[in-house]
Amino acid sequence: MPFYQQRGKIPHKRHIQFRHQDNGALYAEELVGTQGFSGVSALVYHLHPPTIVTEKGKPYSVAPKIALEKHLSALSFKGFSLQPVDDYLDSRTTLFVNNNLHIGIAAPRQSMTDYFFKNADADEIIFVHRGSGTLKTMYGQLPFEYGDYLVIPRGTVYQLEFDQTDNRLLLLESFSPVRTPRRYRNEVGQLLEHSPFCERDFKTPQDLMTYDERGHFNILIKKQGMVYPYTYGTHPFDVVGWDGYHYPYAISIHDFEPLTGRIHMPPPIHQQFEGEGFVVCSFVPRLYDYHPDAIPAPYHHSNIDSDEILYYVDGDFMSRNNIQKGQFTLHPGGIPHGPHPGAVERSIGKKSTEEMAVMIDPFHPVMITEAAMALEVEDYYKSWLEEPLVG
Ligand SMILES: [Fe+2]
Repeated sequence: MPFYQQRGKIPHKRHIQFRHQDNGALYAEELVGTQGFSGVSALVYHLHPPTIVTEKGKPYSVAPKIALEKHLSALSFKGFSLQPVDDYLDSRTTLFVNNNLHIGIAAPRQSMTDYFFKNADADEIIFVHRGSGTLKTMYGQLPFEYGDYLVIPRGTVYQLEFDQTDNRLLLLESFSPVRTPRRYRNEVGQLLEHSPFCERDFKTPQDLMTYDERGHFNILIKKQGMVYPYTYGTHPFDVVGWDGYHYPYAISIHDFEPLTGRIHMPPPIHQQFEGEGFVVCSFVPRLYDYHPDAIPAPYHHSNIDSDEILYYVDGDFMSRNNIQKGQFTLHPGGIPHGPHPGAVERSIGKKSTEEMAVMIDPFHPVMITEAAMALEVEDYYKSWLEEPLVG
């Protein structure tokens, strides 16, 4: 995370004696980061060492089952056809996979109450399509609502508390740190004037709560496609203070300020995040191109070096016909794609759009899981036919 934060009590220098004022016990200092000792990090002060494991359960696999390892076809999937289930982890369903990232969805009905979760492999971006609640971590509480991207660095122990049972989440797991684009920042990391968001748009953990509890605390740890059930003897949220640059945060798609132009602007102007081998873009309601002869619909493009995955959130998506909320389209690198029949003419003269979508461009081809194929829209690849050419 790009700017310094501090919560609770911390000593005036790092790595010195820091004791409980009543009983004189030393707090347990922990350095938390995801890139050795050279990336961003936080120093965290626990009541108890974060190492008190009392039991280990039997690991089990959650590795996605691949249906299409290789393909060259425009595909589409109905995300909202995923049946809701009670448990958050049970509900997490991976759809697209490569070595840089996994993309999935979830429709959990219940809050996490009897366990905590930690993804030891991947930074997570959780886009909240439906529902609201609170992300609970040792750094504090992050309330979330429709439109929020929750960015959770790998290694963060968390719980999701939902306000209701109707929740729809888009999930991205990145095996490298998730960042906002470097070109939006100056040499000390401040967001520049042309960035579509600024520091004020980031929501950081609040209301640090310190749980001084002993007992049995179950943390399900995901690593290398397996879940390892661990039981700890002390509550994982036993932090009295922390500071640094490493913590979960939220930013809303509704706070993304679109950049517009006289003629059609390319997708990089919509960029929200990046990681190794992918970018994430936010398409939000905006004014259309204002050249007198402008064509607001995108031109055909042949993104030979990137797959393109669009997730439709809200509004009418002007370049596509028959697209529903929660639907994915996947346009693979290697063949061109473009607006659906009629979409170009339809767009001319339009002044604005209410469309909202999240686009994920993986730079290496993704494999398609069995779970995704169960949601497939049949024959999407033929959807550019105005009328059958044969037969
Ligand atoms: Fe595209």
